[in-house]
Amino acid sequence: MGSVKRLEETTQIVSNIKAAENLYFIDVHSPQIAQALRPGQFIHMQIPGMPDKILRRPFSVYKTDAEAGTLCVLYQVVGAGTEHLSTLNAGERCSLIGPIGNAWAPPAGARCLLVGGGVGAAPLFMLAQELAQAAHGVHVVLGAQTKDALVALADYEALPHTTLSAATDDGSFGYAGFCTQPAQDAIDSGEYDYVAVCGPEPLIKIVSGLAQDAGLPCEVSLERRMACGIGACLSCVVDTVEGKKRCCVDGPIFKASEVVW
Ligand SMILES: Cc1cc2nc3c(=O)[nH]c(=O)nc-3n(C[C@H](O)[C@H](O)[C@H](O)COP(=O)(O)OP(=O)(O)OC[C@H]3O[C@@H](n4cnc5c(N)ncnc54)[C@H](O)[C@@H]3O)c2cc1C
Ligand code: FES
Repeated sequence: MGSVKRLEETTQIVSNIKAAENLYFIDVHSPQIAQALRPGQFIHMQIPGMPDKILRRPFSVYKTDAEAGTLCVLYQVVGAGTEHLSTLNAGERCSLIGPIGNAWAPPAGARCLLVGGGVGAAPLFMLAQELAQAAHGVHVVLGAQTKDALVALADYEALPHTTLSAATDDGSFGYAGFCTQPAQDAIDSGEYDYVAVCGPEPLIKIVSGLAQDAGLPCEVSLERRMACGIGACLSCVVDTVEGKKRCCVDGPIFKASEVVW
């Protein structure tokens, strides 16, 4: 697939809703980016009203609504930028650049296992939507600290042809413990040809190790602190077997086999 031109859009916030402690869904009206975006790509958002107006924040796109021309981001409040983002209201404007980066690329016809920890559920949802349209379906494993933090669960549950497993650290829903265990069970079942994983780096590392041990191709979506988001500043480098790559334009999705952990 040819690369899609990166767009800049001044967008309007449609809603910004708290889903659980420190977790929010923000919908913005961004018809051009929503239309162009492929599963796994991200946007660079200028958060209005921030003192550092220059630095944008990168977010994966959770889902799009082509008819409404909107895109949705699932974000976690971790610092000043996301804290400020959580205070914004419908009607406020913000500038987005996107789509940025590459997209998930499962082999055609592969039986796919997707593993998302925490807000790592976000960049996998559009991939799951695409795979759910195929008759062979998809298996999704979601993990979070608590049942309340599994904020994407209902959307995943609504997908057709999708097997869903969940794990919570406190045992309040699904498997009690880390989602690495249901991921391992699924890999051991021998029913999958491809694994995609996103979430905290230790989770990514463990699951991609399990996939590699089983001889399965695995893709990982990595996060790095980003400044320019266009490949110019080298603030987002990922060490790979082919040398340093830029997470923003060479990723954020990498083959697990190429990453030097
Ligand atoms: C490609 C990509 C996709 C992302 N998708 C999402 C998403 O869908 N939902 C979501 O909640 N977050 C996502 N992030 C992370 C998000 O960009 C950061 O949490 C955000 O920029 C933090 O801004 P802040 O000003 O609130 O925090 P800061 O005050 O800048 O930092 C607070 C803490 O967050 C860490 N942090 C900051 N930026 C990043 C980053 N880029 N990656 C990892 N850790 C960071 C810092 O090390 C620090 O510990 C993504 C990051 C990348 C690179
Ligand atoms: S953020 Fe500048 S090169 Fe990636």
